[in-house]
Amino acid sequence: MIAQLFFCAILLLLVLVADAKWIVPGARWRDTEGNLVNAHAGGVTLDSETGRYFWFGEYKVQGQEEGGGVSVYSSEDLATWKHEGMALRPIEGHSYISPERIIQRPKVVYSAGTGKYHMWWHADNSTYGWLLQGLAQSDNITGPYNFVNATAPLGNWSQDFGLFTDYKDGKAYALYSNGDRLEGRDVYLTSYNDEITALDQVVHRFDKYDLEAPTIIQTESSYYALMSHKTGYRPNNVVAFRADSLSGPWSQPFIIAPLNTRTYNSQSGFSLRIKGSRQTTYLYLGDQWDSNSLWESRYIWLPIQIDERKKSLEAVWHDVYDLDVKTGEWETIKGKTYYGIDSTTNGDAFKQEATFGSHGVIIAGIYGNDSTVTFSGIEGSGKPQWVSFYYQNTDDMGFGDQPGGNPDRIGGTWQLRRISSVVVNGNTSNVETLYQRDTHKGIILSAPLQLKLERGNSNTITIGGLHNGFDVKGADIDKIVVYPPEE
Ligand SMILES: *[C@@H]1O[C@H](CO)[C@@H](O)[C@H](O)[C@H]1NC(C)=O
Ligand SMILES: *[C@@H]1O[C@H](CO)[C@@H](O)[C@H](O)[C@H]1NC(C)=O
Ligand SMILES: *[C@@H]1O[C@H](CO)[C@@H](O)[C@H](O)[C@H]1NC(C)=O
Ligand SMILES: *[C@@H]1O[C@H](CO)[C@@H](O)[C@H](O)[C@H]1NC(C)=O
Ligand SMILES: *[C@@H]1O[C@H](CO)[C@@H](O)[C@H](O)[C@H]1NC(C)=O
Ligand SMILES: *[C@@H]1O[C@H](CO)[C@@H](O)[C@H](O)[C@H]1NC(C)=O
Repeated sequence: MIAQLFFCAILLLLVLVADAKWIVPGARWRDTEGNLVNAHAGGVTLDSETGRYFWFGEYKVQGQEEGGGVSVYSSEDLATWKHEGMALRPIEGHSYISPERIIQRPKVVYSAGTGKYHMWWHADNSTYGWLLQGLAQSDNITGPYNFVNATAPLGNWSQDFGLFTDYKDGKAYALYSNGDRLEGRDVYLTSYNDEITALDQVVHRFDKYDLEAPTIIQTESSYYALMSHKTGYRPNNVVAFRADSLSGPWSQPFIIAPLNTRTYNSQSGFSLRIKGSRQTTYLYLGDQWDSNSLWESRYIWLPIQIDERKKSLEAVWHDVYDLDVKTGEWETIKGKTYYGIDSTTNGDAFKQEATFGSHGVIIAGIYGNDSTVTFSGIEGSGKPQWVSFYYQNTDDMGFGDQPGGNPDRIGGTWQLRRISSVVVNGNTSNVETLYQRDTHKGIILSAPLQLKLERGNSNTITIGGLHNGFDVKGADIDKIVVYPPEE
């Protein structure tokens, strides 16, 4: 009896722990086996029978960044992800899904007509010369999916692919940019036939805006179509259009995140409507591409705030938030802030006047092992905790004619990221690496790391610079925010 009670208590504890899983945009997301979640430019499909979410995305491994096929993960809470294996495996020598081909932006939808799950994606050859849409089917949501065909949508071209299902009538639509040629540069919104085996008719064409990575968010009264500009793997200011009906008229595009954050360093691609028992929440599901190593790219998932009266929406940044998919509610987790002005600088690192910094200061000159900044008196719990590092990385100083240089300079190249070392309590045998993507001047973004701090309030965190391929500069640091452990 006691043993049983004990067992129940443990189960209860496990359930509570599972419930508390938080979403940390831009962190290294790991699956239930501890591996990086590898599902880029994906889509999430809710299985209405089981209430489980299935995340499909491009599988990328180091050294081979295209042609990896489509992986699938499942989750009950959109935060804990179990790897379900490969949904679409590349086949050697296959015309359309061999490892040499492009299999991008996969999306899965259930077809009541065929009784199967249908996966659609952007199918192409390695030089984007075909611009087709691929279809594969499976009886099982996790696959394996069997290739059906790759076709030109109503005879046109199709590059970045999105799929949207209207929750009011269950009808499915494809969204696709028709490539970079002068005759293209549109985004199409086209309905599928009832079986979702082929496209039916064009519902709207976003004419000549030259956008890509489309997704649609549907509220009670509006449709918002989100798209990114075409800057390759570099992020930009994602825009949205609004309409009362899919066929339009659609509004002018507007920017969905604070200017010059480049949508918090992310690209659009998918979105989710979570209808909970208490509220409906809309999530932006973006990719934070890392063109230096695509397989290390991360995910920026954020709640979207919609103002139907103003006919606008905004993706709002949260370092750490807790989403309850059952109720639809989410809350931002509160952390404790430690400011640069109160830190200790070492070597050539220094506190520089900055109108945009907290208390008018930012820590500059972080370099290698010797020019570092240390935050002291940090409260810890003895358990792993998320820490967000607020930084600016303009990467435009001191590179001369070396690789690197100013992104705001004509013909300039720049470095995607600086890498900082993060050391807790001076223990240099445990150096964490913090990637800090480039930002505009005066724009402060945050990047998270999970750290183990000692219990009590005498921890230190020291930030230095690690080699990013060109230099050992760390980004400028504004402040750090330490979050409580998940429990
Ligand atoms: C891709 O397809 C286009 C159009 O057929 C062709 O011109 C191009 O050579 C192909 N690329 C490769 C690598 O075969
Ligand atoms: C479908 O997937 C489930 C869970 O992965 C598995 O147990 C089952 O055997 C699969 N069925 C088929 C027909 O592949
Ligand atoms: C695949 O699509 C092509 C082009 O639309 C078509 O000619 C061909 O018949 C299709 N193949 C199958 C097996 O449906
Ligand atoms: C695709 O559509 C554009 C207009 O959106 C048109 O100019 C172009 O010719 C079409 N391409 C094909 C292959 O049909
Ligand atoms: C930092 O220190 C380590 C040894 O602790 C050394 O191997 C490394 O070269 C140093 N890096 C720099 C940039 O000084
Ligand atoms: C320093 O870190 C290493 C590696 O994580 C660990 O084994 C060691 O116990 C740590 N030292 C102290 C004093 O905590």
